[in-house]
Amino acid sequence: MNERISFDNSEIIVSQTAENELSNWINSMAYSKIFILVDENTHVHCLTKFLKNFPTELPIEVIEIPAGEENKTITTCVQVWESLADLKADRNSVLINLGGGVVTDLGGFIASTYRRGIDFFHFPTSLLAMVDAAIGGKNGVDLGSLKNQVGVIQFPTKVYVNTTYLNTLPPKEMKSGLAEMLKHGLIKGLAYWEKFEQMHQMNISALDELILESIQIKSSIVQKDPNENGLRKTLNFGHTLGHAIESHFLNHPQKYLLHGEAIAVGMILASFLSVQLNQFSENDLSRISALIGKYFTKIEFTSKDISQIIELTKFDKKNFGNQVNFVLLDQIGKCKIDCQVPESLINDAFNYYDSLKL
Ligand SMILES: NC(=O)c1ccc[n+]([C@@H]2O[C@H](COP(=O)([O-])OP(=O)(O)OC[C@H]3O[C@@H](n4cnc5c(N)ncnc54)[C@H](O)[C@@H]3O)[C@@H](O)[C@H]2O)c1
Ligand SMILES: [Zn+2]
Repeated sequence: MNERISFDNSEIIVSQTAENELSNWINSMAYSKIFILVDENTHVHCLTKFLKNFPTELPIEVIEIPAGEENKTITTCVQVWESLADLKADRNSVLINLGGGVVTDLGGFIASTYRRGIDFFHFPTSLLAMVDAAIGGKNGVDLGSLKNQVGVIQFPTKVYVNTTYLNTLPPKEMKSGLAEMLKHGLIKGLAYWEKFEQMHQMNISALDELILESIQIKSSIVQKDPNENGLRKTLNFGHTLGHAIESHFLNHPQKYLLHGEAIAVGMILASFLSVQLNQFSENDLSRISALIGKYFTKIEFTSKDISQIIELTKFDKKNFGNQVNFVLLDQIGKCKIDCQVPESLINDAFNYYDSLKL
């Protein structure tokens, strides 16, 4: 597979020789030094393979951060900014973010702000980063348990996707990325969604074409509405409650959930609300619950969890009073933004989720 998706000032290249193409590009430019940002896992699993296929005469420095969402903080940024300064990164240096969404979100923010901005490239290595985090120019860090509160919209010069890096990704992390792919089907394409219903096994060869399609769906939405004035909000389907669930369990390490695991629950809850408020069909709600249930284990919520999660949705600046703003479905593949949902219905949605035999 060798596909290119072009933006105004950016490009996504999906190729099994992506490293080589990136080195060709970088070698053709007047960069002074290459910095590669990894986390401890992508250092072990991805860096050797990457460097083997990345010929260059330019000096390379590797900067490692600890793995995990809890390190997507301004404190980690300060450490990386200091490393860049110590290693004499100048305005013509370039940063390659080799990792999952934590590395691409944080690395994009670091590069956008270091010396008021140096060029950067994303080389996503997790499924979630390939289909979502690395696409669309949003970069940033968390503030305490509140997700993505500090950041910028800045597109990388290019994004390079090589799906063979998924061979070392743990199965749980594969599922986390799958949640975002399912979301792309629910908001944009019935035919795309149905391919997942027909998929018997989740392996990389089955997913290869679907990954490309997911990238195309997200990038076409972002191209039409980069600043999230309207259409881009559809990508938040499942995220109003999903983010609140994720934030809530960040404070409860024993029940810690991956981003996609939280979004998977959020999508079932939003689909239930779509039936209540949007004439979405009960049958399609069952289809969604069944497919998500095939891949994701059920989460137990206590009534205290639920009330704290509802409180967290209120931190979202798009919500006011006792109404929470949602993206809801009209049909599979078609959705509506800015739907106001009364708080009491959210409780009903959790009751529905609780009643499911997943
Ligand atoms: N910017 C956006 O538009 C956007 C969109 C969606 C999600 N996000 C963000 O993305 C983050 C989640 O991304 P993620 O799920 O990739 O998390 P992550 O970066 O923590 O990666 C998941 C885990 O997989 C490991 N890993 C990554 N690639 C690997 C590989 N090839 N082999 C072995 N291990 C590997 C990582 O070290 C980590 O332990 C969240 O912070 C979320 O907010 C951002
Ligand atoms: Zn998401």
